[in-house]
Amino acid sequence: MLKKGTINKLFAFGFAGLMLVSCKQEENHRGWQYMPDMYDGPALEAYSPTDLFSDSTSARTPVKGTIPRGFMSYPDFGADAAGYDSAKAYLQMPSSIVASEETMAEAKELYTIFCGHCHGDKGMGQGVLVKNEKFLGVPNYADRDINFGTIFHVITYGKGVMGSHASQVTPEERWKIALYVMQLRDELTAPAEEEEAPAEETTESL
Ligand code: HEC
Repeated sequence: MLKKGTINKLFAFGFAGLMLVSCKQEENHRGWQYMPDMYDGPALEAYSPTDLFSDSTSARTPVKGTIPRGFMSYPDFGADAAGYDSAKAYLQMPSSIVASEETMAEAKELYTIFCGHCHGDKGMGQGVLVKNEKFLGVPNYADRDINFGTIFHVITYGKGVMGSHASQVTPEERWKIALYVMQLRDELTAPAEEEEAPAEETTESL
């Protein structure tokens, strides 16, 4: 029969032995694992090297032709003047975009965030940047022969000194903004057609 103290010593040695063999110098070695799949998942770690692909990187580009969920496609006429003319002639407002109260409220908000500082709340080209003379040459929408197609094109590719806003607003948001811009333009042109609106008055009311 072993003495109690000897049993305790044996346990202590056994435990210490276990601790030693369960550790390795390698940083990523987790020692003994119960259900290893839970620690070392079969999924590849982002950006870690792998033998699975010839370029040995786990970061893959999307399959050709993949589009993000919810993406709205549009005919791409190109950024140049010919593209602009084609957009003017052929680019139509998608039927899924309807000028509901909700859509127009969203459109106004988007316009205020992305366009108002140059084009002004009413689209007269008198935004805060223009007033502070930080940005010049911003037209009054009423002076431009624009339609939904050209507005979409201009937001996507920019025009002259106006830069592209494609990275800021999705195609769907661009159409909504286009609705709002045309509404502003209608408001700007309507009184001028009915009565001879004096130019100064309109400038004052922005
Ligand atoms: C940094 C100032 C600036 C911002 C921001 C800006 N624009 Fe412009 N925009 C301009 C200038 C300048 C022009 C004149 C470009 C030209 O015709 O050379 C212009 C022109 C336009 C035109 C007339 C283009 C045509 O067909 O003649 C439209 C429409 C327009 N912008 C819409 C927008 C919309 C919508 C936004 C917001 C998504 C926006 N802009 C944001 C400066 C700006």
